[in-house]
Amino acid sequence: MNNLKKMVGIEAAKFVKDGMVVGLGTGSTAAFFVAELGRRVAEENLKIVGVTTSSVTNTQARELGIPLKDIDEVDAIDLTVDGADEVDLDLNGIKGGGAALLMEKIVATYSQDYIWIADESKLVEHLGAFPLPVEVVSFGCGQLFRLFDKLGFRPTFRLDETGARLITDMGNHIIDLHLEKIEDPARLIKLLDETVGVVEHGLFKDMAKTVIIGSETNGVKIIT
Ligand code: 5RP
Repeated sequence: MNNLKKMVGIEAAKFVKDGMVVGLGTGSTAAFFVAELGRRVAEENLKIVGVTTSSVTNTQARELGIPLKDIDEVDAIDLTVDGADEVDLDLNGIKGGGAALLMEKIVATYSQDYIWIADESKLVEHLGAFPLPVEVVSFGCGQLFRLFDKLGFRPTFRLDETGARLITDMGNHIIDLHLEKIEDPARLIKLLDETVGVVEHGLFKDMAKTVIIGSETNGVKIIT
């Protein structure tokens, strides 16, 4: 699996050109992309500025010597490359397995171009087998949990390694919704967007323009 992740990470790095402001995604697949950019910065004198989507990626990029700026310090982000937890045939997806969905969605929103990289196991016919992460403010999140439960969304709080409720980089909690199959993504997005206490959710609809898939049998496939 790691060889596929590395393959797509390296492929995506080919889209990065000198002078670009690049959004750096989060997760094990995006880490290969960031590593390849770090290599190009060090060995090929590639001139870029990175905007990171999590504290983990920030640390990795810093250690690799990739120049970084805060999202508000750049005029525009030329390209963001990120991983995904599920991708459907319309290039909609679920993200947030690494709890970075809020920063990831903000960086993606302000990016001119947005690419997902994933191994073939992430491609699905219908979204929802992967639990949908919803980032919520801590105040009243127990009420929100009960609301999701009543709606049949089978919620669980994301926990950290100590068993406490996980706190995201933005200081919120994550409730994962075990939906199995999302019949109508647009309807669910409307509901979540209108629910008080929800900061953001991991349904990314009509955002990715390109998906680079790594497959054992077919190598790299670029879907647009
Ligand atoms: C983090 C994310 C990741 O991009 C997603 O979870 C995929 O991660 P991985 O490449 O490790 O499977 O959305 O919030």
